Amino acid sequence: MIGVFDSGVGGMTVARALEAAMPDRGIVYFGDLARTPYGSKSAETIIRYSLENSRFLLDQGARMLVIACNSASSVAAAAVRAEFDVPVFEVIEPAVARAVAVAGNGRIGVIGTRATVASGVYEKKIRAAAPGAKVFSVPCPLLVPLVEEGWLSRRETRMILRRYLAPLKRKQVDAIVLGCTHYPLLADEIRARAGKRVTVIDSSLEVAAVVAAYLRDHPGFAATIGGRPGRYHVSDTTPAAAQIAKMIFGREINLEKVRTP
Ligand code: DGL
Repeated sequence: MIGVFDSGVGGMTVARALEAAMPDRGIVYFGDLARTPYGSKSAETIIRYSLENSRFLLDQGARMLVIACNSASSVAAAAVRAEFDVPVFEVIEPAVARAVAVAGNGRIGVIGTRATVASGVYEKKIRAAAPGAKVFSVPCPLLVPLVEEGWLSRRETRMILRRYLAPLKRKQVDAIVLGCTHYPLLADEIRARAGKRVTVIDSSLEVAAVVAAYLRDHPGFAATIGGRPGRYHVSDTTPAAAQIAKMIFGREINLEKVRTP
């Protein structure tokens, strides 16, 4: 199984992209709804949660891990790689690779949670790949709760998006990285507000392509992954979460409640 975790439902956008890229691979998902959000927590806490979530997924039969949360990817990927001897993928590097491919040494906007933006990880990685690039990051702390509430195309959400995107419009960025796995659910609204000339980069699609390429290049390992159906675990259940899961996958998803790992 491909183990995938996030602080909640946002990582399901990554699970959906993995399913679309590799319809035959089994996915075991963990959404830490009891402890969400991660984006406003300390690095120490996010690392602890990420190690616990990874252990849970490996106990469930995962043979590889996808950290489907930017907040966890930015501060905990190194700790997860150091602790577990399995392939570990995170969402930041694939998005950075795409941003640099699209914008080169141009102007790149990044939107994310407070933890992701404060970590400076996107700036560091983009500048390492394209030293002349100009990176402008905007923390958007209200977007995760809006998505979790299912307020995807409400007037209030559009107003808040306009406010968050205004500094990136003023900077005339060439690309905007959706630096949070909840944001693909707002991608259409973000595209509409960013303007036609701006490429919006969805890290869920980028990481799915990277994982699919890895499995293609490692057929022996890929043969051990196992097939569908996938399993979706959460550490708490809410009606909104069930609804968002259904909206993301376009089908009913059985969210199995488990104790926080
Ligand atoms: N989906 C998480 C991310 O990509 C954000 C949610 C949270 O803050 O817990 O950063």
